[in-house]
Amino acid sequence: MIKKATAQLFLNSSEILRGEGVKKYTKKVSELASVFLNSEMAKENNEIAYEVYSINISEDNDESLQYGVTVLKPVTVDGECVLTRGHFHADSSYGEVYLGLSGEGFLLKWDGNEEVVLEKVIPGSVHIIDGKEAHRLINIGETDLSVGAIWSKNAGYDYNTIEERGFPVRVFKNNGQIEIRGKNGEKREC
Ligand SMILES: [Fe+2]
Repeated sequence: MIKKATAQLFLNSSEILRGEGVKKYTKKVSELASVFLNSEMAKENNEIAYEVYSINISEDNDESLQYGVTVLKPVTVDGECVLTRGHFHADSSYGEVYLGLSGEGFLLKWDGNEEVVLEKVIPGSVHIIDGKEAHRLINIGETDLSVGAIWSKNAGYDYNTIEERGFPVRVFKNNGQIEIRGKNGEKREC
């Protein structure tokens, strides 16, 4: 029997991920307000911050891999570049792979202590995330930043640690220049 594929994957942002079984959700800036330094300004901003498209590779298998694409819009809030909420994995024995598809940004990785890594995300870049590292995407470009992700359902999510402690680094755009700053917006040496 020849079975037709139900979902089609494309490694570019215009087609993204479509077909049966593809789930999509959208986050507005206002829904993410608490992660921005100027959260009061973010609360008033109803622009889309990012969209996430994902599929289960196998619905009835907990070990199943997931594939998703996150599309971050080129939005800033009081100069701060738009970002995903970011998370640790609930089970730190499961890592993740990110794939740069289009646009320009950073993957921010944090071990929960002193170590912060900012990796440039560009079309074709591949990023290995250790299961112990929190991870967040930041769009620093003038276009959508699209990033593919492959992870196990077993990884789970720990959003609370980030909610409570925040990432130690923020990224701003000032007159077209990218500035890396500390958690409270202070200048920071890299
Ligand atoms: Fe993850």
